[in-house]
Amino acid sequence: MATTDRTQQDAQKLSAARAAVKFVKDGDVVGLGTGSTTTFAIKELGKRVKEGLQIKAAASSIRTQELAESLGIEILDLGRLSQLDISIDGADEFTDSLDLIKGGGGALFREKIIASLSKNAIIIADASKKVKKLGAFTVPVEVIPLAYQYVFDQMHKLGGKGILRTVAGQTFITDNGNLIIDADFGLIDDPAKLSADLNQINGLLAHGLFINITSKVIMSDGEDIIIFE
Ligand code: 5RP
Repeated sequence: MATTDRTQQDAQKLSAARAAVKFVKDGDVVGLGTGSTTTFAIKELGKRVKEGLQIKAAASSIRTQELAESLGIEILDLGRLSQLDISIDGADEFTDSLDLIKGGGGALFREKIIASLSKNAIIIADASKKVKKLGAFTVPVEVIPLAYQYVFDQMHKLGGKGILRTVAGQTFITDNGNLIIDADFGLIDDPAKLSADLNQINGLLAHGLFINITSKVIMSDGEDIIIFE
């Protein structure tokens, strides 16, 4: 991507993040996603906390936890929470019916828990993330290592061409000690059906299709903030 495109995309991410952070109020317990777009939101929240906003948060990844704590945001144990007032996260793709692909950063399992716990699950995005149909971005799937081949083969039967995720030549390991398979299902006609089929596979911890879980998507196109809900 050219530098100008990247700068414009970052400006859109920042605008969407600023719009989302306005929904956070004193006393909220806030779920924090992972990724470059969410990083803008965490930094904006950090500024508001320095100005006196009283919040606590739960983090979807170790890197989000470290960033939030460095900005003075108190992090609670996600595993002990029954509900979050609000959550802010990014996405790799979204449609106007609020179906998402997430997990480009490999944090999909904890992100799904956070979205499920959230009364107001907000996704923030630049305009490049909006698609008519999901599937140009591969579907990340978190797999327990001893079930790797089984899950890989079962996904193949569903039409998914999988690749084990590596980073700089090394197998990518999630914060939960698991593997990621990035699966290409082509453009997905029925994301809810595929999500349900994937949920049936033993050993598959979580997949990156987020269906009926998002309250709103806040997108910036560089000029306007557009809210899909
Ligand atoms: C991480 C995610 C991210 O939200 C998604 O990959 C988008 O990342 P970015 O904001 O960097 O484009 O799901 O697991």
